[in-house]
Amino acid sequence: MTSKIIGTGSYAPAQIVTNDDLSKIVETSDEWIVSRTGIRERRISLEEGTSYMATEAAKKAMENAGVHVDDIDIIVLATTTADNCCPAGACEVQAALGAEKAVAFDIIAACSGFLFGLNVVNSFIQTGIYRTALVIGADHLSKLVDWTDRGTCVLFGDGAGAAVVQASETGIRHMVMGSDGSKGSILSCVARTGGNHFNGNVPELGYLHMNGQEVFKFAVKKVPECVSQVLAGANMDVEEIKYFILHQANYRIVEAAAKRLRQPLEKFPMNMDRYGNTSAASVPLLLDELNQEGKLKQGDKLVLAGFGAGMTWGAAVMEW
Ligand code: UT7
Repeated sequence: MTSKIIGTGSYAPAQIVTNDDLSKIVETSDEWIVSRTGIRERRISLEEGTSYMATEAAKKAMENAGVHVDDIDIIVLATTTADNCCPAGACEVQAALGAEKAVAFDIIAACSGFLFGLNVVNSFIQTGIYRTALVIGADHLSKLVDWTDRGTCVLFGDGAGAAVVQASETGIRHMVMGSDGSKGSILSCVARTGGNHFNGNVPELGYLHMNGQEVFKFAVKKVPECVSQVLAGANMDVEEIKYFILHQANYRIVEAAAKRLRQPLEKFPMNMDRYGNTSAASVPLLLDELNQEGKLKQGDKLVLAGFGAGMTWGAAVMEW
């Protein structure tokens, strides 16, 4: 027994912010952003919070899967930008959907979050504890970005992607995930310093801080490495894979992964040109786009992979 993605959905805020729009806020240009990252525009939330975006994506995924809300046993929301410290965003999604029979919780694994969520629900399903799951990746990074820092503010966007995952004889063949906390400082966001009544410190909210070059080096090594690892674990050859659906941070990272895996770039769909880096949402957002375009056929072999703050990484190989 394994589990299979039986439906996908996504949501992106309506507000489009182009590179030219950003060049009015910070010293940058469309030419710099496109040539260094492949990003042309991103969606920025004006009103929508993480739970709202996650709920909208989840509704579409359930519709696409043809499952009723009462079928959902577990909701896992991967996010680093929950609207509140508590309740968990997943519980807010549960309430908004009326998924009364489900258990709901969040996980934080930054841009690897969707892969981590998928691994968690796959494990529950394999052990027979649950049968049908909603895995959602949603992030509202625009609220963490320092809009005066051109090194980060041009990279990110807001959005959500979701998948309904169900027990099945075919589907996920293998998954891997990993983390290296010793590299945590290369991509971080201090949420609250230790202020309390007794030490007199004032709680502080930080901005996203990144050493871009270190993250880049980490990604171009780790992404192909974990893709090879997941394929080896499934006893599959890289040639069998139709699409490698990688975290959409930078087209140069995707290109480098394609090169190291010795696979044509056509097998690596990309949409960061329109959405930027949407963190936990990026993999399911791209997966949903491919699904809606009818590009995924039954039996297709896919690899999904993500990397992000932590540092964290994860990959899955599956039959569609
Ligand atoms: O989900 C994971 C999240 N993060 C990532 O995946 C990020 C991985 N890293 C990257 O994608 C790249 O490192 C960046 C796109 C962030 C930066 O590209 P780079 O080629 O590594 O540029 P750099 O940091 O070496 O900066 C080169 C120059 C610098 O100017 P000087 O010192 O050479 O004069 C920067 O100040 O580009 C400058 N720069 C910019 N110029 C115009 C940095 N950001 C900008 C900008 N517009 N937005």
